[in-house]
Amino acid sequence: NPSQTVLGLETSCDETAAAVVRRAPDGTVEVLSSVVASQIAEHAPFGGVVPEIAARAHVESIDAIAERALAEAGLGYGELTGVAATAGPGLVGGVMVGLSFGKAVALARGLPLVAVNHLEGHAVSARLAADIPYPFLLLLVSGGHCQLLSVEGVGACRRLGSTIDDAAGEAFDKIAKTMGLPYPGGPALERLAEGGDAERFALPRMLLGRKDCDFSFSGLKTAAARLAEGLSTDDERRDLAASVQAAIARQLAERSDRAMQLYAREQEGRNLRFVVAGGVAANGAVRQRLMEVAAERGFSFSAPPLRYCTDNAAMIALSGAERLALGMADPLNAPARPRWPL
Ligand code: KG4
Ligand code: ZN
Repeated sequence: NPSQTVLGLETSCDETAAAVVRRAPDGTVEVLSSVVASQIAEHAPFGGVVPEIAARAHVESIDAIAERALAEAGLGYGELTGVAATAGPGLVGGVMVGLSFGKAVALARGLPLVAVNHLEGHAVSARLAADIPYPFLLLLVSGGHCQLLSVEGVGACRRLGSTIDDAAGEAFDKIAKTMGLPYPGGPALERLAEGGDAERFALPRMLLGRKDCDFSFSGLKTAAARLAEGLSTDDERRDLAASVQAAIARQLAERSDRAMQLYAREQEGRNLRFVVAGGVAANGAVRQRLMEVAAERGFSFSAPPLRYCTDNAAMIALSGAERLALGMADPLNAPARPRWPL
């Protein structure tokens, strides 16, 4: 079980990212570099990610971004022990760019390739900056996904619940858009909500009292859109943003609370660790609510540093390194998988 030095590549949405992560045989993790080139400026005029524009932008920058990640790590391709590229889920055009680039590096340098599930990358992201042993309960909340997972080990996840309509980040983005905020809506809505009165507007509490761990945001989205139409002052806008943020945070907390009860029973009170990951984990109000329920249920609470919440390649490199340490490489004909549930 030698030390792994892995180049990670992430191109599944609107960030072109490359990183180098070293994993020691004892599991110690060191991020040697993490470069993220956002395409926000290219997509902003369209109010969301345009797949064709994303794929072309990835093609134009992947080579330079990978070079930069190696330069910042102070390494050459020859010093790598493996390559890890996101193989899905995501926009297939973009996924193919990073995956093909990774295959080319692996082939040219004789390195093992890992075709990483983007969601598994988010699942290990908190391990980039803290020693969080398996198993743990994970809330994965991003623009495309909203699920509660029991993470038992490398590549071993069991889903406890997921959204029946929109993902939490999608809800943030869509509501922000109806309020006239720029893309991406989540961070813009959080900024607007600052100092706002979260009690001002009553929003529906979805799925309240249900015994499962599923999520639903469509009712909230409709209610928020109706309220947004009637706003006249900046104060009202700020208070609606705060109310929406609180409603999303509350639902995430309520469903996580339910999952913690089930998980604690399954684990017979051991390994009570709760991790939140994905872009929405960057939201302060969301983190705060989750931290409170974790404390009430006797779970430890972990969230990645903000730079590892949103899409990045360090999490992909770590996922690859953990798999390579267990001998789990993939063939060079590994397919891009636009839909790939954990
Ligand atoms: O993980 P991520 O970068 O990409 C996906 O895999 O989807 O997550 C992006 C999502 C977007 O919906 C974005 O609006 C949301 O995360 N997000 C936030 C914040 N930062 C990013 N939502 C709320 N508050 C934030 N501070
Ligand atoms: Zn993501």
